[in-house]
Amino acid sequence: MSEHVLVCNIKDYAGKSVLIKGWVHNQRSSGKISFIQVRDGSGYIQAVANRGDLKEECWNTINEITRESSIMIEGSVSEHPKKKGVFELQVSDVMIIAKSEPFPIEKKEHGPDFLLQNRHLWLRSKKQWAIQRIRNTIICATYDFFMGENFIKVDTPIITASSCEGTTTLFELEYFDLGKAYLSQSGQLYLEALISAHGKVFDFGPVFRAEKSKTRKHLVEFWMMDAEMAFYEHEDNIAIQERLVCSIIRQVLKINQKELEILGRDISKLDSISPPFERITHSEAVKILQKKGSGITEDVDLGANDESLLADVFKGPLFIERWPAKIKAFYMKRCPDDYNYVKASDLMAPEGFGELIGGSQREDDYDLLLSRMKEENMPIDDFQWYLDTRRYGSVPHSGFGYGLERLVTWITGIEHIRETIPFPRMLYRFYP
Ligand code: 4AD
Ligand code: MG
Repeated sequence: MSEHVLVCNIKDYAGKSVLIKGWVHNQRSSGKISFIQVRDGSGYIQAVANRGDLKEECWNTINEITRESSIMIEGSVSEHPKKKGVFELQVSDVMIIAKSEPFPIEKKEHGPDFLLQNRHLWLRSKKQWAIQRIRNTIICATYDFFMGENFIKVDTPIITASSCEGTTTLFELEYFDLGKAYLSQSGQLYLEALISAHGKVFDFGPVFRAEKSKTRKHLVEFWMMDAEMAFYEHEDNIAIQERLVCSIIRQVLKINQKELEILGRDISKLDSISPPFERITHSEAVKILQKKGSGITEDVDLGANDESLLADVFKGPLFIERWPAKIKAFYMKRCPDDYNYVKASDLMAPEGFGELIGGSQREDDYDLLLSRMKEENMPIDDFQWYLDTRRYGSVPHSGFGYGLERLVTWITGIEHIRETIPFPRMLYRFYP
């Protein structure tokens, strides 16, 4: 039997006989020739079977194949007669590993409910395949970027004793005899403890928001990357976010051309992203939005419609800075000229894809932090460990967190965040 090779490496085998193991993505046949589109995980290849070149038994096997059957195909690799750089397999033998029952997802259009109910099968479709590959590139590019900037990757807990982003979106659970515990909304507070050991750290893991929102931008479980840096002030925080986003985009454009093409993404929209990104304050954003007819006022967070309105004005990624303290988290550092504002930044995606990153310089003064926590009636006892970070060698520091699925939605240009994660958890769905 010939060597088993992956489709992604097929061009190295031109003229040679190889074995491909995978699934039948599609098939069309006439009496004399059959075209089998095979997916092996690493890519897609067309296998061409000519009745005249095959044993009768093999031709009969080919006619038994159903869509999504698992198969092994042996054949010689040749360049497509009309498409340069596209390789095909001239079939010499076919073996069925397991014949598939009629596949529920047909070639016609299906509604979202049906597709989500069959998510475990839907993931095999070409578009879903492309999305997961781009997601993978974003994850790897993030690790590469931080290694290049001398960070270390650390892991923060999923079960926590206290909330990071306010108590309104917390998942609660009973923790043995110790009372209530919560699922993490962000690893940030733990990273703030770790910077005193390692300087620059990041985590990357699942976080949970018991959010009753049913929008195309919200998931209940999603993956967050939090980064935290000792001795970084607000400006340094902005600059590193720009570098990170640009290096992720460059990497996707380099590695995932094929996938972006499958998704029909307008690449020029990504190609044009370069630092420095535009920046406005929250007050400026409010003024612009009011002029455009939004009902937003000072001290109010942006709504989905506001995000779209801003995307009409600003074509690239946009930082919104200097947020009203009232509507931002307790740990953010006040602006020295006006304590009503904090040194926070939200990075908004272009094209109306919404907030990609939330970040801020952190309050490093023990007394100011404590007084803010008291103002918010936070359970101080549960946060003693966090306050310790300001007792034992506090330093100016900053950090930020991105929502992986938000980045994937923007970069792939798809309509809804639910397609960016293999098994989405949403308000009305956690099956399959
Ligand atoms: O803005 P957020 O809430 O910030 C934090 O949690 C900080 N502790 C991060 C930090 O400074 N280390 O969340 C960060 C990002 C948002 O910008 C958004 O991209 C994403 O997480 N996000 C969501 N993604 C999907 N579904 C949701 N329900 C999301 N909520 C936030
Ligand atoms: Mg935010």
